Amino acid sequence: MAQEVRGVVAPGRNEPVRVETILVPDPGPGEAVVKVQACGVCHTDLHYKQGGISDDYPFLLGHEAAGVVESVGEGVTDVAPGDFVVLNWRAVCGQCRACLRGRPWYCFDTHNARQRMTLADGTELSPALGIGAFAEKTLVAAGQCTKVDPSVSPAVAGLLGCGVMAGIGAAINTGGVGRGDSVAVIGCGGVGDAAIAGANLAGAARIIAVDIDDRKLETARTMGATHTVNSKETDAVEAIRELTGGFGADVVIEAVGRPETYRQAFYARDLAGTVVLVGVPTPEMKLELPLLDVFGRGGSLKSSWYGDCLPSRDFPMLIDLHLQGRLPLEKFVTETVGLTDVEAAFERMHHGDVLRSVVVL
Ligand code: APR
Ligand code: ZN
Ligand code: ZN
Repeated sequence: MAQEVRGVVAPGRNEPVRVETILVPDPGPGEAVVKVQACGVCHTDLHYKQGGISDDYPFLLGHEAAGVVESVGEGVTDVAPGDFVVLNWRAVCGQCRACLRGRPWYCFDTHNARQRMTLADGTELSPALGIGAFAEKTLVAAGQCTKVDPSVSPAVAGLLGCGVMAGIGAAINTGGVGRGDSVAVIGCGGVGDAAIAGANLAGAARIIAVDIDDRKLETARTMGATHTVNSKETDAVEAIRELTGGFGADVVIEAVGRPETYRQAFYARDLAGTVVLVGVPTPEMKLELPLLDVFGRGGSLKSSWYGDCLPSRDFPMLIDLHLQGRLPLEKFVTETVGLTDVEAAFERMHHGDVLRSVVVL
């Protein structure tokens, strides 16, 4: 029997989002229905609304979520009703070449739930990133649920479902930041700040935050940045070199997603250093670099896909560190809001006023 719940729907390109009654079916084989407790508001949700991702309206928005499993379908053994879980947008197969080689974040055979959630009139919904969690309940694949310590606040746990995990993972998984390293992070929004927190966790000796907005640099300090550079006023590459004894940083993380900041990252790394691109560029962006500089500077140029995370390994570990007081995830929750406040939260996000607004149910 399908259940009626409330959910935040983007009805069409650039139309304001609405709280609608939606129908959530019973879980089929390999699926789970999750009672959502918290779901963060992310740029990607706004992109769905604006038409930047696809035209499969109506969308059920929301994808950075935590909640309690209500029911599971046939064959589900990893999670059970009552489990507190963080949702992820890629249920990996475990069997493809990428999975078998230990890089499941590149899995090409993901098994998200085959979506059957609808509006009350039967119109099929497209859930954002295969989740759709600005809703009292949602249908997902059991493989999208990772069980974590239930003593953590749901608003904090849900952060790991997307941007914050992407940033932390860019530092600790992709960048391989180690004790004593110098790290620079270009762009200190939610993702960049999470990269700073990750670098701090990994024992970096110097963490240089770069942004064009002084307010962002102030917040970056509270996340663990040891030095800050306003790249509107100062040349970022020179400043980073100066702060690293003239060498450049061991790891530079680009968390904006633009050619000009990528170029800064490229030149701000030490010879043989690592550049990690975690900011998401748009299709028309191009980068031109002297090939001789690519050759002569060595090192590695990497990109980070959802922080190259393995949810079953990383979510419980990061929540454990948070509960021990060693990872200040709570600082990413600027405000908690209700289902009816998503449109206003988009507005604040757009103006750079929040790290995360989190819808709490
Ligand atoms: N130089 C330095 N910082 C910049 C520049 C620039 N030229 N342009 C913008 N910034 C800063 C902004 O001031 C802001 O602090 O980059 C930050 C971007 O933060 P948010 O807009 O909050 O974005 P965030 O959620 O952190 O995501 C960053 O990662 O996941 C991707 O799609 C996402 O591309 C985006 C990036
Ligand atoms: Zn796979
Ligand atoms: Zn997201």
